[in-house]
Amino acid sequence: MPNLVITGGTKGIGRAVVELFLREGWNVCTCARSEEGLKRLKEELKHPKNLYTKVCNVGDRESAKAFVEFCQENLKSFDLLINNASILGERTSIEHYPEDIWEEVIRINLNGVFYITKYAIPYMKAGGVIINLSSGAGKRPAPYWGAYAVSKFGIEGFSLLLAEELKQKGIKVYALNPGATRTQMRAKAYPQEDPLTLKPPEKVAEFLIEIVKNKPGGVSIDYGS
Ligand SMILES: NC(=O)c1ccc[n+]([C@@H]2O[C@H](COP(=O)([O-])OP(=O)(O)OC[C@H]3O[C@@H](n4cnc5c(N)ncnc54)[C@H](OP(=O)(O)O)[C@@H]3O)[C@@H](O)[C@H]2O)c1
Repeated sequence: MPNLVITGGTKGIGRAVVELFLREGWNVCTCARSEEGLKRLKEELKHPKNLYTKVCNVGDRESAKAFVEFCQENLKSFDLLINNASILGERTSIEHYPEDIWEEVIRINLNGVFYITKYAIPYMKAGGVIINLSSGAGKRPAPYWGAYAVSKFGIEGFSLLLAEELKQKGIKVYALNPGATRTQMRAKAYPQEDPLTLKPPEKVAEFLIEIVKNKPGGVSIDYGS
């Protein structure tokens, strides 16, 4: 059975990915900050024996390292790493952006991806895949998206250089913009929007499985707008 490590598997896109890959017979190791969220995930999925969970804040170096070690102990090596966890931060101008929130967003959305990836690379199988969740806000100017937008521009750059570095190991790297998706993060960003007009996270999970199967060319991939 192939092995998946995904951060932020308790809600939204991450949760849909966990469910789909378990159904497809993968071993799945995931994390979130909330212990309650992980407990609920396992209960609702009826405690599958191929699901491994650990509390982790990816933006905390030691916590990220402990999570990857936990995944390695349970899965031995990884076919697929999905850096999915991120936070929105504030929707305001750079001039008014609170410094502490800026630092937290960059720590989680950008440093966290670096930590998890750095610690996971030694256990990635040749022929494996790394997918980093990006955003349209990381590809073109999105005024008032502040640290979130800047972190996602960082993810695009990180993915491009990582793809070059890991070529020799036969590992493909992608930055995936999932487009507008019906999740709590999207609802927080657009409180006036009717969530039922958006695609459900299950569609993104299906798209991800196609990427893993077909390994398309290029690094930066868009699903929707
Ligand atoms: N939804 C969209 O329309 C959309 C559009 C473009 C890009 N994206 C990207 O797609 C990804 C998933 O988004 P989503 O909408 O599914 O988000 P979401 O509904 O807010 O879910 C985020 C998940 O990540 C976990 N998480 C957050 N911070 C964490 C941390 N520091 N350490 C570990 N886990 C953490 C959350 O659990 P805890 O809170 O318990 O930690 C939760 O399980 C993100 O990278 C987002 O930027 C989403």
